Amino acid sequence: MIRIQDLSFRYRGSTEFALSRINLEIPPGDFLGIIGSSGAGKSTLSYAINGVVPHHFPGDFYGEITINGLDTLDTAPETIAGQVGSVFQDIDAQMVASVVEDEILFGLENFRVPREAIESRLETALAAAGIGDLRKRTISSLSGGQKQKVAIAAITALRPRIMLLDEPTGELDPRSSRTIFAYLKELNEQYGITIIVIEQKIMLLCEFVKRLALMDKGTLMMEGEVQAVLRNGDSLQAAGVNIPRVTELGSKLSSRGWYHGELPHTLAQGEAMMRDVLSRKEPPHAAV
Ligand SMILES: Nc1ncnc2c1ncn2[C@@H]1O[C@H](COP(=O)(O)OP(=O)(O)O)[C@@H](O)[C@H]1O
Ligand SMILES: [Mg+2]
Repeated sequence: MIRIQDLSFRYRGSTEFALSRINLEIPPGDFLGIIGSSGAGKSTLSYAINGVVPHHFPGDFYGEITINGLDTLDTAPETIAGQVGSVFQDIDAQMVASVVEDEILFGLENFRVPREAIESRLETALAAAGIGDLRKRTISSLSGGQKQKVAIAAITALRPRIMLLDEPTGELDPRSSRTIFAYLKELNEQYGITIIVIEQKIMLLCEFVKRLALMDKGTLMMEGEVQAVLRNGDSLQAAGVNIPRVTELGSKLSSRGWYHGELPHTLAQGEAMMRDVLSRKEPPHAAV
């Protein structure tokens, strides 16, 4: 369980708070997506969860965060890393090895995964990220998207109780992005790993996560089930987040009485909605 209580944080030297009065609970097994425009404080919130704030980025820290009972202020980030596996937005800063397999082995050895389990964990993680063929490559020769896959493989190989990923698909094409999200979902469902993912692609988030949290100007504007958050299209738009086009269409059809079901957020749901709408013979105004 992650418990964030009245969290505010201002980076040293800044006049503005990057986070203000955040309250959020993330239960075990949750799959939470965090959205918000650039500068909203998403990365800073992730740093606060894994202890990088304030241990590596100092500043004024108010409130409290506990990770399974550990207070992040009193706990070294290296210890928190045993509970929370992080994929940072700045992938290059994250890499420690020069060859792909070593990057993954480093974590496995560091976390004392039994020797006999190491090879299968390594292979599984590489295959799931779709980078089995990159195993012997040097990291410096990889593209940004390939590095993202390596970072994700390195964290998933460790199977931490909690995974925190900051825009892990920022440099990936749509197909690779979906592969990564499908894998995260599998980890969430099969192993009960809590997943927190910061992501700009709202369609992708809506399709895979259980809950959404919306950040704007350092505050947590909204948090809840995907459907519930999507219903607040105006708040999302005010925070600079565009709701999926198919949801927007659903919302319009709904407000005009054409559609009464759940708002769609995937194409398949959109198709089902359109079939439903098209099966109606009478336009809604006929009844007025
Ligand atoms: N290392 C830092 N030092 C000072 N200010 C920072 C630092 N990192 C981020 N900020 C500021 O904190 C605010 C939130 O940034 P960030 O958490 O990166 O937002 P997001 O990830 O949502 O784009 C921004 O105003 C940004 O300029
Ligand atoms: Mg960020």
